[in-house]
Amino acid sequence: MIAPSRLTPETVIERERALFAERSPRSAELAQRAAPHWLSGVPMHWMADWGTPFPLFVSKASGVTLTDADAHDYVDFCLGDTGAMYGHSPAPIADAIAAQATRGLTCMLPAEAVASVGEMLAARFQLPFWQVTQTATDANRAALRWARAITGRSKVLVFQGCYHGTVEETMVRLRGGRTVPREGAIGPAFDAASAAVAVEFNDIEALERALRSGEIAAVIAEPVMTNIGMVLPQAGFLDALRARTRAHDVLLILDETHTLSSGPGGYAASLAWQSDFWVCGKAIAGGLPAAVFGFTADIEARMRAVLAKREAGHSGMGTTLAANPLVFAALSAALTHLHTEDTHAAMHGGALQLERGLQAVFTARGLDWHISRVGARLEFGFGPAPHNGSEAERAMRPTLEHALHLWLLNRGLLVTPFHNMMLTAPMLPSAAIDRFCASVGEFLDSVELSAS
Ligand SMILES: Cc1ncc(COP(=O)(O)O)c(C=O)c1O
Repeated sequence: MIAPSRLTPETVIERERALFAERSPRSAELAQRAAPHWLSGVPMHWMADWGTPFPLFVSKASGVTLTDADAHDYVDFCLGDTGAMYGHSPAPIADAIAAQATRGLTCMLPAEAVASVGEMLAARFQLPFWQVTQTATDANRAALRWARAITGRSKVLVFQGCYHGTVEETMVRLRGGRTVPREGAIGPAFDAASAAVAVEFNDIEALERALRSGEIAAVIAEPVMTNIGMVLPQAGFLDALRARTRAHDVLLILDETHTLSSGPGGYAASLAWQSDFWVCGKAIAGGLPAAVFGFTADIEARMRAVLAKREAGHSGMGTTLAANPLVFAALSAALTHLHTEDTHAAMHGGALQLERGLQAVFTARGLDWHISRVGARLEFGFGPAPHNGSEAERAMRPTLEHALHLWLLNRGLLVTPFHNMMLTAPMLPSAAIDRFCASVGEFLDSVELSAS
């Protein structure tokens, strides 16, 4: 039954923006003070992209509760877009950081904990060798450099709709069958399309054709695409990806920065094979900025061969503050207390409840929307589940999504401003999941769904 009083998504956006402004006087005041000193009023320009009339300023975040400057609490399903996937300031991480804080923050030398953390990384993620960077972007960048140096080839293959951080050569899209630079990139150093080939996810033939060119050093891939909505791998696709890359001596970089949500060993733990490189950032150190990349013994041997032949000088990898003792304290605590079966079981339980709850909300309203889930990470989309990035992109409804995000925000429920991603932290209460589903239901009963 269609209620006569339904609003267009545009009207919802207008009303919710006005409501946000009314209930956020302290954030408004902070925004006014920040505006003259920060680009777009924020320390990273895209923090202005939440679609609110001015930024929401945070006073505190703990567990799944984020508190804004006006003392409103939000149940956080965004969790810093994965950085806080295990909840904000998990106690073991906060304690480890506090204990290390008076014992040195950065030294440019390996901390004592390097030995044990290496052992823990190898045991948890099943690759023998590791390096640390400060961000997943940097880890991907380094893995790609190594791949080019090892293979002597220049290009990277990516999947259409991917995001692997701001790694210049992955900033491409597939448009009309051609690889082109990604729209919106500011000031690229070179034509990214000259360094990359994009093909559709789940398209084994296109993958094989591109690999056969002999130009590809590495494929960088998420096992489940998570940055263009969510695209699940079809049966056999990932196995084919591994087999074909191996056949062409193209290195495979698995970027599990988001799919760490799959379980304590990442999605890779469910695969019968190893990637050449395995990358993870964001939540790997429980929310402290850090990333790691692991690699096989074969890759390590090939890296040493590169090192033996190179001239002295800067390698183009590494930043001064990465791999500091504070990060190692956090990594050690995360490997002991967060990347565990118990923690992930709690997260998966919440995600399953959320999946079922949302499915019931959609079904009750006759909507053919789908929900995709990879462990503790969920995404819903309009219509059937997409097979590739282009299908996912075509199905997006940005105005409707914007209206929903603002609606939820004003009702104390935080989701990312990008597509419809939700994460369930281990301490997320069951009642909060019910409240989330009820609020989505109320939104769907209030808005004209055919409008945009
Ligand atoms: C799959 C994936 N890899 C890498 C990154 C880059 O992470 P960071 O921005 O922390 O460098 C992201 C960021 O969203 C990501 O989604």
